[in-house]
Amino acid sequence: MNPHDLIAAARAAAVHAHAPYSRFAVGAAVLLNDGSVVTGANVENASYGLSLCAETVAIATASAQGRLRDVVAIGVVGGVMDGAGDMPVRPCGRCRQVLNEAAQLGGRDLPVYCAGLTGEAMEEHRLSELLPHAFGPADLGIAAG
Ligand code: THU
Repeated sequence: MNPHDLIAAARAAAVHAHAPYSRFAVGAAVLLNDGSVVTGANVENASYGLSLCAETVAIATASAQGRLRDVVAIGVVGGVMDGAGDMPVRPCGRCRQVLNEAAQLGGRDLPVYCAGLTGEAMEEHRLSELLPHAFGPADLGIAAG
């Protein structure tokens, strides 16, 4: 699957964001090693601090399918609902750490594609660039694979 298709899947997921408080919708699409895609959107809560990010929801869903080690790439999109949404959104710090769990377990430096809810602009990063010198499973003696 090419990055643009992954971004399209993330945009489709962002439609289901539950974000009545921030009005900022985020969608994430995780590509697995068999070509399948798992998606997530942010889930806010009336107790604001309990809100879940889209990337975390997508990674948790992949994990619940027994596929945490199989993640090969992720696409992230976001923007203000009903607003101009062309600016690429990059994963927050906590999500970078969550993504790192899948990356290290799978032994991959994940490509992270970032875009807005709309528009052509897309960035490609590596997780090692977004989260250098990461702490992860290997530090606790958990091997990749
Ligand atoms: N959000 C995400 O879903 N992922 C990120 O990486 C950044 C922030 C969500 C959380 C909250 O629902 C909204 O965006 C505004 O912060």
